[in-house]
Amino acid sequence: MYLPETVKVNNQNHLTMAGVDLVQLARTYGTPLYVYDEDLIRHNCRSYRDLLAKSYPDSRIAYAGKAFLTMAMCRLLQQEGLSLDVVSGGELYLAYKAGFPMEKIYFHGNNKSASELKMALELGVGRIVVDNRAELAQLAREAEKQGRSAAILLRVRPGVSAQTHHYIQTGQEDSKFGLGLSDGQLMAAVKEALKSPRITLCGLHCHIGSQILEARPFFLAAQVMVAALQEIHNKTGVALPELNLGGGLGIRYTREDRPYSRSDFLQMLARAVREKAEELNYPLPQLTLEPGRSIVGEAGLTLYTVGHVKELPGLRTYVPVDGGMTDNLRTALYEARYEAALANRVVGEPLQKVTIAGKACESSDIMIRDIELPAPQSGDILAVFSTGAYHHSMFSHYNRHLRPAVVFLSRGQAALVAERETYEELARLERIPAHLQLEQDAREEASGQ
Ligand code: LLP
Repeated sequence: MYLPETVKVNNQNHLTMAGVDLVQLARTYGTPLYVYDEDLIRHNCRSYRDLLAKSYPDSRIAYAGKAFLTMAMCRLLQQEGLSLDVVSGGELYLAYKAGFPMEKIYFHGNNKSASELKMALELGVGRIVVDNRAELAQLAREAEKQGRSAAILLRVRPGVSAQTHHYIQTGQEDSKFGLGLSDGQLMAAVKEALKSPRITLCGLHCHIGSQILEARPFFLAAQVMVAALQEIHNKTGVALPELNLGGGLGIRYTREDRPYSRSDFLQMLARAVREKAEELNYPLPQLTLEPGRSIVGEAGLTLYTVGHVKELPGLRTYVPVDGGMTDNLRTALYEARYEAALANRVVGEPLQKVTIAGKACESSDIMIRDIELPAPQSGDILAVFSTGAYHHSMFSHYNRHLRPAVVFLSRGQAALVAERETYEELARLERIPAHLQLEQDAREEASGQ
C-alpha cells in the first residue's frame, strides 16, 4: 500500500487531505470529485518563485494554466504574485473574468486565431509568444489596426529531445511548435520583428516537453537558447533582454517515479543560463519559467465511488468507478500510471490485486491495471493520487458524462471552486432546427412547456 505525502489516515481509518475527511467530502459533494490541497499549491508557487529568485534574482514564474485553470486558481496565483501562461482565448477570458492583471499574462499557441490575437491586444496582455512568421505578420497588422503595440517573445524549437512520452515532447526539430534555429526561420522572424514599428521584440521562448525527469535536456536547451540570443546580438546588434524556458519538470505519480528536486532543477537552470551568458559575454537576460504540472499535479487527487465489482475467475477482478477517461484522459492517451487507496478503509485489511476500470464505452478506459487494495466493494470511495494537472483541464464529454466539481481544501475547510455540471448544462447549447421540429414541439410551445 502506497500513500503519497499529501494524505493522512485519521482514527476512523479514513483518508484525509489538508485536515479534511475525504469520505465526508465525497458525501457532501458527490463523486467523481477533483480535490486540491490549496496550501500545497500556494507552497509550490512560493517555493518556485523564491528558490528561482535565490539562484537568479531577475526572474519570474508564470504558471502554465493549461495544467489546471479556474477563476479561483487565477486569484490564488495573483495573491502569490505569479504570472500566468495562457494558450487560448478561453483561458485568457477566464483570467480576465477573474480580474487577473493582464500585463502578467504570456499568450501562447501554435495557431492563434485572428480573433484570439485581436482579443490579446485589446486586453493588453503582457507578452504574446509568437509561434511563426505568418502569425508575426498578422499580429503586426492587427496592432496597426488597433493603434497599439505588441510586446512579444519568439518561440524557438531548440532541437533538443527530452526523454518523455513522445506525445508530450515539443523541443525536437520535427515539431509543430515554434521557429527553427538551423533552418534560419528564427533569424528571419527576428529581423521582421525588429523592423515592425508596432512590435516590440523582448526575447525568446522555448518549451522542450513535459513530465521530464532528468536534467540534461533542460541544461542543453538553456545553453542553446542563450547561444541563440548571442547570435541575434551578433547579427542585428540587439541584445534581447528576456529568456523564457517554459515548463516541463516531472512529478511523482507512482512509487517508482523519482522526480528531480525542484531546488536542484532551478539551481541547475540558473547555472546553465549564467555560465553560457558569461562564456559568450552576453548581458544576463531576465529569466522566466512556466511550470504547470509541478505546481498543481501532486496537490490534487480524484475521488470516485466503486460500482459493481466483477470477478473473472482466473483472469482478473474489475473494480468499476463512476468516472474514468472522461475525467482522466491521461490513462487512455499516454497509458499513464497512478496510485490509489480506498478512502473509507485505508489500512489494516488483507490486500487483493484488482484492476480499476472507468465507465466509458472503451476497452482502453482502464484507470489502474493491477493495484493491490483492501478487497473493494460497491460503495467504497476510491482516491486516485496526483491528478491535479491535466485532468480537469483535459476533461472530455465522451458518453455525455458530466464534468466533476472541484474543491479546494485548506486547514480543515472545503471550498467549492467549480460546480458539477448538470444535465441541463449539457442540453443548453443545443438547438433543434425547424426541419427537425415535430408536431408535439409546436403543441408544447403553444402550451408554454
Ligand atoms: N509552457 C508551455 C509553452 C507549454 O506548452 C507547457 C505544457 C508548459 C509550459 C507547462 O509544462 P509542465 O510544467 O506542465 O510540464 N497533457 C500532457 C501535458 C502537455 C503539456 C503541454 N505543454 C500530460 O497530461 O502529460
